[in-house]
Amino acid sequence: MLQSQGYFITGTDTEIGKTYSTVKLLRQWQGEGLRAGAMKPVASGCEVDEAGHWLNDDVCRLVAVTGQTDLDLMNPYRFLPPISPHIAAAQAGIEIKLETIVEHYQRLAPQYDRVAVEGAGGWFAPLSGDHFMADLAAALGLPVILVVGMRLGCINHALLTAQAIRAAGCEFAGWVANQVVPRMPAYEDNLATLDRHLGAPRLLTLPYAP
Ligand SMILES: Nc1ncnc2c1ncn2[C@@H]1O[C@H](COP(=O)(O)OP(=O)(O)O)[C@@H](O)[C@H]1O
Ligand SMILES: [Mg+2]
Repeated sequence: MLQSQGYFITGTDTEIGKTYSTVKLLRQWQGEGLRAGAMKPVASGCEVDEAGHWLNDDVCRLVAVTGQTDLDLMNPYRFLPPISPHIAAAQAGIEIKLETIVEHYQRLAPQYDRVAVEGAGGWFAPLSGDHFMADLAAALGLPVILVVGMRLGCINHALLTAQAIRAAGCEFAGWVANQVVPRMPAYEDNLATLDRHLGAPRLLTLPYAP
């Protein structure tokens, strides 16, 4: 069903399972015999190891699947505090440049059959004073996969995000239903509502797995 070499992964919010779902997608692609690569172009929130390396949890979880070793290529921007990238970048005196990320993607992508680019936060998470995640997805020219964290309020968040993806001129390739909470009341009805209104295929349905 998926045809593109690369996909941009966004979510209905932060902490709703973008990385979790990206790991599942990468494993699925590997199972199909594809060489799967990942990018986390902008990561905020790092631990510093004994050698002084900045380690971001998402980056570590993604490279644990793909085996990527060039972390500067897959993650050109990383910041210590777990705050919005545009604020973290301003505090660090850095400007996050879309061209830099596109250039990194263009060097990374040819090494793989399929690449997942995980955004930070949701679709309108700011990257700078002028740009949002939406602009990055558009600059990369990648179809978008929306991870829906299945909990109360997700229908509104999902439909707003889907509309915004299309308004940005991006292809809405599909969505992932990710159960981030142990039990969502009327879960099946929520799935059916999303299936009906999102207008894109449900690619994965991931149960709560503590
Ligand atoms: N289906 C799931 N079942 C159980 N825990 C999950 C599930 N999806 C995500 N989580 C947990 O929720 C937290 C946030 O998920 P994560 O993938 O890091 O979100 P995001 O990338 O959107 O910020 C993580 O601790 C993750 O392990
Ligand atoms: Mg993540």
